[in-house]
Amino acid sequence: MKKLVLTGAAGRLGSYLREPLSKLCNELVSSDIVAHTGSLYDGERYVQADLADLAAIEALTEGADMIVHFGAIGDEAEFDAILQSNIVGAYNIWEAAHRNNVRRVVYASSIHAVGMYPKNEYIGTDVPHRPDTYYGLAKCFAEDLARMYWEKRGIEAVCLRILSCAKVSNARAVGSWLSYDDLVQLVTRSIDTPITGFTIAYGVSNNDRTPVDTSSASFLGYRPNDNAEQFAAEMFAQDGPLDPSDAGHMCHGGPFASVPLGKSGQAALKIEDDRKKN
Ligand SMILES: NC(=O)c1ccc[n+]([C@@H]2O[C@H](COP(=O)([O-])OP(=O)(O)OC[C@H]3O[C@@H](n4cnc5c(N)ncnc54)[C@H](O)[C@@H]3O)[C@@H](O)[C@H]2O)c1
Repeated sequence: MKKLVLTGAAGRLGSYLREPLSKLCNELVSSDIVAHTGSLYDGERYVQADLADLAAIEALTEGADMIVHFGAIGDEAEFDAILQSNIVGAYNIWEAAHRNNVRRVVYASSIHAVGMYPKNEYIGTDVPHRPDTYYGLAKCFAEDLARMYWEKRGIEAVCLRILSCAKVSNARAVGSWLSYDDLVQLVTRSIDTPITGFTIAYGVSNNDRTPVDTSSASFLGYRPNDNAEQFAAEMFAQDGPLDPSDAGHMCHGGPFASVPLGKSGQAALKIEDDRKKN
């Protein structure tokens, strides 16, 4: 592959993807809204760009074979902020992909597109969208946009509904954990699978308590290696008894299912910023 574009490169997940992605192509163009990402890996170039700026995204993706689109506000926020970065940003990525004849977009969707389903419903990727926040609603928009650009314009898309990609720090994550190694495997398989069409897959490790049907990722060759069961006793003791009448405990979206619209869902998760240093 000649050129791969990674958005959200300065983010936590981007920090784990940059090095392996740089090995899959002649040139990795890493991009984010911030000024820089620190030192670069071999074959990597950095371009600062705002996802809400179509001209900038069109220039960024010129000549790209594929786009790995991870840039977004990664939390619930006021609607106008989500509108610019996550909704207009997604439109700009797919529209730029169309104008530049990009073959495929690998997209960081989220469990929050279906976050209001109760956790004791084992859901597949075929259930109707049921977002828990404006953030989740934007993921629904991007998945529908991706399907439409596949059906009308032939751009392949792999939408990865990531559950919780962070160090395990709460009882929910015992089911929802996606380790960084498994994230890298899932994104790599989404790129190197010769044909994907439009695909939605859940992004989660091989946890004993995985609450979603991961079978749609099978044809990608994704075989997760990590299992959060090793953290179960510690996390269940730490969090104590959970209230089944609290949507934040009972639903797939976790705290995003119970926070007021526009207010942070991440705040309750105490996620450690353990981004990879280079
Ligand atoms: N971490 C998780 O558990 C998880 C779960 C589900 C989905 N996701 C998705 O994965 C992606 C990466 O998540 P993360 O945890 O690394 O989040 P993060 O906040 O660490 O990274 C997101 C990056 O996007 C950039 N960004 C935001 N608005 C932008 C804009 N207008 N233009 C350009 N860049 C912009 C930010 O600067 C940031 O560096 C996001 O799309 C997020 O929604 C993450």
